[in-house]
Amino acid sequence: MTAKTRIIQVGSYAGSPTANDRLARAYDIVELWKYPDRKAALAEHGKGITALVTSANYGCSAEIINALPDLKAICSWGVGYETLDIKAAHARGIQVSNTPDVLTDCVADLAWGLMLAGARRIAQGDRFVRAGSWGQVHGGIPLGTRVSGKKLGIVGLGRIGEAIAKRGIGFDMDVRYHSRRQRNDVSYGYEASLVDLAKWADFLVVATVGGPGTFHLVNKEVLEALGPTGTVINIARGPVIDEAALVECLESGKLGNAALDVFEQEPKVPDALKANEKAVLLPHIGSATLETRKAMEDLMVENLESFLKTGKVITPVEG
Ligand code: DGY
Repeated sequence: MTAKTRIIQVGSYAGSPTANDRLARAYDIVELWKYPDRKAALAEHGKGITALVTSANYGCSAEIINALPDLKAICSWGVGYETLDIKAAHARGIQVSNTPDVLTDCVADLAWGLMLAGARRIAQGDRFVRAGSWGQVHGGIPLGTRVSGKKLGIVGLGRIGEAIAKRGIGFDMDVRYHSRRQRNDVSYGYEASLVDLAKWADFLVVATVGGPGTFHLVNKEVLEALGPTGTVINIARGPVIDEAALVECLESGKLGNAALDVFEQEPKVPDALKANEKAVLLPHIGSATLETRKAMEDLMVENLESFLKTGKVITPVEG
């Protein structure tokens, strides 16, 4: 019997139930998260290891990369890569792969779910019914706002932003976007100024990448420009929105609603948001469907297998 290839796994795949067993059957795994002293574990088991698997949430730091002298590929589960030190990897010629495309539609669907949940008070209505308040509280819950035919602003027109834009067209919405560069292959309106986009929009959906380049891009000025009837939706990364400013704007009534799947310090969610009926809150579940999580797992494993067989990953992150 040939020995299994040894690989490093940074964290457990809790969000993809079959991934751990599948990897464990095929490979000799160094389960890094199980070692209290990761540095010592890397020094003891790291030599000769050429491949590492991780995820968008666990990432891979320069410290890990530099502790593995033979590392040649990092295969990550998830599309986001701000937690992976791409610079440190590429400086050593290490390939990095993520799992793009396979989660685009599910994340765009969830943006839509959040938009409807916020505008039509779906989560609030659910709480109202469960609390036995229906028929007991005069007037019921406050009226929501219409989604169809409204103005949709999108921050970041990558794959997910574009899938959200298409859904907007299906809802007869006027769609505009803001991004670093104007795209000449789409006909949606472009706003070079995010504040101007927010002033114009009824719904502002954050679909941009995370990381230092977009930190607090949606700040107080942008939220106030969206205004008392506006809704901000975030399916991207928590730190793209200044959360303290968001709380302040919701509490003062300068912003209408917020519908969020991501937060600045997950899994911590500010109590002020939890207490606010104008906020819809989800536990980072953009890609969390059976089909999509399986497809992400498949692509992560295919990247790993392709690297081990051919020396090349299939979906590299170009940094
Ligand atoms: C991603 O794919 O980046 C998701 O946010 C999972 O964390």
